[in-house]
Amino acid sequence: MKKIAVIPGDGVGPEVIAVAVRALQAVDRARGLGLELVPFDYGAERYLRDGVTLPPGQIEDFRENYSAILLGAIGDPRVPDNRHGREILLGLRFSLDLYVNLRPVRLLAERLCPLKGKKPADVDLVVFRENTEGLYADVGGIFKKGTPDEIAVNEDVNTRKGVERILRAAFAWAKAHGKGRVCMSDKANALRFAHDLWQRAFREVGADYPGIEKRHLYVDALAMKLVETPEAFDVIVTCNLFGDILTDLGAALVGGLGLAASANLNPDSRTLAGMFEPVHGSAPDIAGRGIANPLAAVSSAALLLDAIGHGPEGAILERAVGSAVARGVLTRDVGGEASTAAVGDFVVAEIERIVRA
Ligand code: NAD
Ligand code: IPM
Ligand code: MN
Repeated sequence: MKKIAVIPGDGVGPEVIAVAVRALQAVDRARGLGLELVPFDYGAERYLRDGVTLPPGQIEDFRENYSAILLGAIGDPRVPDNRHGREILLGLRFSLDLYVNLRPVRLLAERLCPLKGKKPADVDLVVFRENTEGLYADVGGIFKKGTPDEIAVNEDVNTRKGVERILRAAFAWAKAHGKGRVCMSDKANALRFAHDLWQRAFREVGADYPGIEKRHLYVDALAMKLVETPEAFDVIVTCNLFGDILTDLGAALVGGLGLAASANLNPDSRTLAGMFEPVHGSAPDIAGRGIANPLAAVSSAALLLDAIGHGPEGAILERAVGSAVARGVLTRDVGGEASTAAVGDFVVAEIERIVRA
């Protein structure tokens, strides 16, 4: 048995995770993978009810007893400071040391791309976002809060180890997947200490990968180039905050957040492979209406299967997502009329069809 922790979370999280779970169950039934999906109620409801974000011991339990975590989204207007989001989402990324945030940007159909004339082959890249430090490190403080002399500081924490391991992960992935180009993006022209470290580490780690073309772009220039020439990129590696921003941009290039999947990985872990979640958030503006796009969640489940040693089954889920796009069985964010559940029905039927074929 492989145990998978399922945290639907807030807003549209439960709606899209219900579909991802159905997809996992369908492929599990057909292929006898022996998955055990264990639900957890962490999120705003639980936090507002009893103050619990993650109970003591939960992180160790995930680390030791689970193969992966599938997460919907965390974020609720009733928790304006997003305390539970930091403790659950960032808490899991940090305490489980899931230092790779791998976010594919892959166009499934020309009509989903807002750029003129770009075809699926033109938008096919992967962002490696550093996931455990940077401006997310929660180091800082507020002095003289609420006064005119207030000082608010968030430190940008960049460790040699942290920078080097995300760079290495990006190069290793490029090499393993036959991708010839790695672009590192920073802001070393302004952030002269932290991103000087990125520059030096990139040169040093890159020297171990002579077959791969290395490129550097400042993040502002990269934001422009991603829109102008997405075909110029295979792998992009960058810091935590820039990766966050660039991957929403990347999502827009392939049809929007409803399609963008992600994997939070610790490639060194022998137990828990990682946490898998859509790039999007809890989408409070559409939550509870049954119209959220579940395909990002299904693609995230595909990344999960791949990471726990079921690559062929992950590919089946991805094919089912591709069929939904090809056949236009889609929610309204991507130009369709189907409900979340109707897309789910199609995906499950498609998985069963692919398995039988
Ligand atoms: P969001 O991603 O929730 O929504 C941005 C826009 O995209 C909205 O218009 C929304 O309707 C749309 N959208 C998102 N997912 C969609 C889907 N599956 N189908 C169709 N449309 C979709 O970002 P936001 O509004 O900035 O944040 C809302 C909350 O989610 C905040 O509390 C934020 O902190 C949180 N958040 C959580 C995560 C996470 O858990 N990984 C990620 C991003 C934001
Ligand atoms: C994401 C989200 C989170 C992040 C937020 C909710 C803290 O935007 O997963 O992309 O910035 O990492
Ligand atoms: Mn984000």
